[in-house]
Amino acid sequence: MPTPRRDRSPSPNRSSGGARGSSRRSSAGGGPGKLVLAFVLGAAAAAGAGYLYLHSSPHPHPRSAATAPQPAPPASHTAAKPPPPAVAPSAPFGISEDVFEAGAHIYANRCAACHGTPHAAALSKPPAPQLWRADRSGLVARSPGEIYLATARGNPAKGMPAYTRVLTETQLWQVALLLKNADVDLPDPVVHILNTPPRH
Ligand code: HEC
Repeated sequence: MPTPRRDRSPSPNRSSGGARGSSRRSSAGGGPGKLVLAFVLGAAAAAGAGYLYLHSSPHPHPRSAATAPQPAPPASHTAAKPPPPAVAPSAPFGISEDVFEAGAHIYANRCAACHGTPHAAALSKPPAPQLWRADRSGLVARSPGEIYLATARGNPAKGMPAYTRVLTETQLWQVALLLKNADVDLPDPVVHILNTPPRH
């Protein structure tokens, strides 16, 4: 009996999404022997490790976003690697209530007028993306480094000021880490700060 490995004959069942029949590894059935089994297990482990790496966040979420949109199913180990998001720097510190409070002060004073608060949308011209929307279309799916860069560089042509010279590195990270966590239940003091109109 030949082992049913990688049967590529055109069969009525549609190939499952995209990559060339990658997930179609046959289960090891005492065929050619231990070598193949070891390879299959090794490949599966590698793919699993890659999956974990891609999907683990360096910043522990207080409540993991179970409903966060998944970017894509894990690529098979044979597929080309996804473009590394690593261009964006990683945060020099982690999240804490202090970080969120500091970020909230900055946000309330400098960003809320355009980007809204957890309780109120803002009506700016040109309209800015509302970063606290309940549908999680904000920045939650971005890495803190991407948020940091978008804030630092801005996009002046489209109405987003650049903040490199306005905020310190630390402040940029504080606000980026806060926005990354816009979908979690933030501590009350943080929410209070966010919903306090800016002082002048
Ligand atoms: C004067 C209004 C205004 C202010 C103030 C402002 N933004 Fe923006 N921001 C915008 C607009 C408009 C855009 C959309 C630009 C575009 O279309 O690319 C934007 C885009 C962004 C983006 C990228 C969003 C995305 O989906 O790519 C981030 C991140 C951001 N702002 C963060 C901030 C932070 C943090 C602050 C405060 C430190 C801030 N912004 C202050 C108007 C503003």
